[in-house]
Amino acid sequence: MPGIAIIGLQWGDEGKGKISYLLSKNAKYVVRFQGGANAGHTVVIDDSELRFNMLPAGSASGATPCIASGTVVDLNEVVEEIELLKSIGIRVQPLISKNANIVLPIHKQLDEILEKMRSREAIGTTRRGIGPAYSDKALRIGIRIEELLHHASLINKIELLQNFHKLSLENMDELIKLAEKLRESICDLEIILNDELDNGVKIVFEGAQGTLLDIDQGTYPYVTSSNTTIGAVFTSCGIGPRRISDIVGVMKAYTTRVGAGVFPTELKRDEADMLRERGREYGTTTGRPRRVGWLDIPLLRYSIMVNDIDWIALTKLDVLSGFRKIKICTEYEINGKIVKIAPPNVRMLEKAQPLYVELDGWSRLSEEEWKNIVMKGWDALPENAKAYVETVEKLLNKSIKLISVGAKAGMEVTK
Ligand code: IMP
Ligand code: MG
Repeated sequence: MPGIAIIGLQWGDEGKGKISYLLSKNAKYVVRFQGGANAGHTVVIDDSELRFNMLPAGSASGATPCIASGTVVDLNEVVEEIELLKSIGIRVQPLISKNANIVLPIHKQLDEILEKMRSREAIGTTRRGIGPAYSDKALRIGIRIEELLHHASLINKIELLQNFHKLSLENMDELIKLAEKLRESICDLEIILNDELDNGVKIVFEGAQGTLLDIDQGTYPYVTSSNTTIGAVFTSCGIGPRRISDIVGVMKAYTTRVGAGVFPTELKRDEADMLRERGREYGTTTGRPRRVGWLDIPLLRYSIMVNDIDWIALTKLDVLSGFRKIKICTEYEINGKIVKIAPPNVRMLEKAQPLYVELDGWSRLSEEEWKNIVMKGWDALPENAKAYVETVEKLLNKSIKLISVGAKAGMEVTK
């Protein structure tokens, strides 16, 4: 069995958590390969809503959670989420690569300070210390997980960090206590993953954030500080590209964005409020109301291209119920030219005029009615909902194999 990668195609919050839970059901491992506690992945099983910031959400299925080198690890979150898993009867020891960098309180403080300094140009970060932790990594003064096992050099390294940043915030005792709790998790994850792949074990690689927040391929500077696209799986986990058999793109049936930056199909006022309320579009990590808008095909085409997506999981289709008309942006007009595949370049997108097609909506359905549809499958979907899905497939030239129609696990229609 192969490696499966799950990649967000928009600005995060596409519902990767739920899709990862589904696809991890018969996997042995599920791996977070980038980002840190900025991610907020939710899985709803029966009536309990589980929120993950640091461990892959797919671990709620029982697959062993792994945290790969390319992440920046918030140790407190790891310890808390091990408890969260225990609360649903899953006792696991996560595997954490020795090479992953640690997010320290100093990084969160710096995140805060930088955002204040940016003033009107603030990115709207999650304040989880992500940018500063990755920048210390690039400066080669960041602290790797492995250091937790070597206290003398850890103290020296922290001193260097504090002197460099002219801030001293670290509490060594606290750090050493956390390290003790995670001692057994610290490993050469790269060797384990390659070995297991050789043995034919199924591994899910769970992306965080989305393609448009990628530091290279996103709407820079309004992005996160890691690569969120497919290449990160290989560099972070130390596996070769041929190990991945399925690259699954997750996209929401409309668009959302939290934080600042261009958003060509953004809605304002009443329609925005309606979509936000129906979709419960408030940040998992920060609680901020998300900006919302219609589906943006030119940007999705770009995301699909750079990740070489095999097939799509479409989420939150149910949220569009009750809109009389639903719009889809099929292309942009920029300086009199038609653009079908849009590179997420901020200067260019600021000038983009979205061109829309308008589709007829379908009426609102009760939860019972949705459950019934899920039982019966694709044919039972309202005609106009099917037309919406088929239009998106045609516009993106990709097949949508999985359609999620509610927050709860189990509310999916496969085609
Ligand atoms: P940072 O990753 O905290 O530095 O935030 C940078 C940008 O990415 C901000 O606009 C955040 O709102 C956004 N962001 C970071 N993580 C997520 C996520 O998991 N979902 C959605 N947006 C995110
Ligand atoms: Mg989220």
